[in-house]
Amino acid sequence: MYAKSQKIAWAFFASCMGLFALQLAYGFILGFDRMGMDGLHDLIPFNTARATHTNLLVVWMLAGFMGSAYYIIPRESERELWSTKLAWIQWASLLLVGVVAVIGYHFNYWEGRKFLEIPRPLDYLVVVNVLAFLFNLLMTIWTGRTKSTTAMVLFFGLLMAALLYLPGMYTFDNLVHDSYFRWWVVHLWVEGVWELIMGAILSFLLIKLTGIDREVIEKWLYIIVGFTFLSGILGTGHHYYYTGAPGYWLMVGGIFSALEPLAFLGMAMYAIVMARRGGRNHPNKVALQWTIGCAVMSFIGAGFLGFAHTLPSVNMWTHGTLVTAMHGHMAFWGAYAMLILAMITYAMPEMTGRKLFKGWMPEWAFWLTNIGMVAMTGAFAVMGIAQVYMERKSGMDFLEVQESLEIHAAGLVCAAAMFTVGVIFFIKNFIAYGMPQDNVSESSEG
Ligand code: HEM
Ligand code: HEM
Ligand SMILES: [Fe+2]
Repeated sequence: MYAKSQKIAWAFFASCMGLFALQLAYGFILGFDRMGMDGLHDLIPFNTARATHTNLLVVWMLAGFMGSAYYIIPRESERELWSTKLAWIQWASLLLVGVVAVIGYHFNYWEGRKFLEIPRPLDYLVVVNVLAFLFNLLMTIWTGRTKSTTAMVLFFGLLMAALLYLPGMYTFDNLVHDSYFRWWVVHLWVEGVWELIMGAILSFLLIKLTGIDREVIEKWLYIIVGFTFLSGILGTGHHYYYTGAPGYWLMVGGIFSALEPLAFLGMAMYAIVMARRGGRNHPNKVALQWTIGCAVMSFIGAGFLGFAHTLPSVNMWTHGTLVTAMHGHMAFWGAYAMLILAMITYAMPEMTGRKLFKGWMPEWAFWLTNIGMVAMTGAFAVMGIAQVYMERKSGMDFLEVQESLEIHAAGLVCAAAMFTVGVIFFIKNFIAYGMPQDNVSESSEG
């Protein structure tokens, strides 16, 4: 069913796997740098590796969202994609922009704005690319046989994410203004519109995997996501502390961002209840495991560890330290990496007709990555808290502090190795599935 569209989705998922692996390679360069082993310094200095690590993350996640949309929207609309040709062109050009940007970083061709390092000329290509993507989806929904809430929320989330890319493309002379609007992209993406995308994909997965009525799942999930979204908008203020923005942001940011974890908690509890209540005994257990895992780990990484440094009285000490990296890793992992891996785990057997979710490998991929990530987060936490006390409370020299953290970076690298073995299992399983087959009928319709 919808075989042509599924091949596109697969191409995006395969790109995801490749870019994810490359992101981890740069993670190790960073980890070894932090241990004091910086033999690659002349070739790939820390700042280049860091920008490459985080940008590859963003690109593979965008590829994952796009692949998910190309899979979900045709099925929800009950037709093939409006234009598969346009989708292939869009896929190729996204990869091209990603690869050119990453190579450029190694020759210092970038903008010095964390997460938004892609230079301006490439930004324009991103805009054209995303417009083609959205147009194709819109036409598919428009001419589809059914128009589901899930498809519309997914589309709306992707559209808003595209619009919010634009404030990051404006040039400001004033550093305060520059930083102010950078957060419209970075914060309003992960704590705003990406959560709509997350809500829609989770909703799709829960409908398919638990067998609970679409109406029930859609209604509750969107109430929760709506709450997250609303608290997240004013929550932007948690990035405006002591930055030159007006002082009232201390209060606004503190209060509203402190509400954000409640929505994540609601989402986690809700997903667990749905999975327990669901009547359908779907054979793809590990896909449900990733789905519930996503809801739970996003609460811990984004909600709980976000709250840990969101109040102005805490953030004035922890800002920009490894405490931020502690939260950043688990939040991105729980909310968005696990979401995409859940989607891939669900979609691969549906597209290929093979049931490779049964063996030990997918199970170990789940546990090794998750235990590895919890341990990595612990290592970052130890480093971050030590850093705050030594550097900011005791006034020790910056570089001396960095050196004394090297031993904990060794712990980070060990944990990352475990995490990476899990990822290798996941990718091996992905490869074993092969490409989507024509004429495969899906195991579950909901
Ligand atoms: C899935 C959702 C989330 C993701 C992916 C995420 C990720 C990140 C990342 C990568 C950063 C570093 C950004 C930078 O410095 O450019 C960051 C910063 C921050 N996050 Fe989150 N976050 C999420 C949700 C939350 C929530 C719900 C809260 C609060 C309850 C929160 C509180 C913070 C704070 C206070 C900072 C600033 C840290 C600093 O001052 O250095 N985050 N987040
Ligand atoms: C092999 C595994 C990994 C290792 C060893 C690793 C290591 C690191 C290191 C050392 C940094 C720089 C921290 C600093 O500024 O000193 C970093 C940054 C970052 N990494 Fe990773 N990482 C890995 C995997 C991941 C994964 C899977 C994700 C997302 C799911 C991720 C997301 C990030 C983010 C968002 C930042 C920026 C954090 C911030 O702004 O504070 N990393 N990573
Ligand atoms: Fe934020």
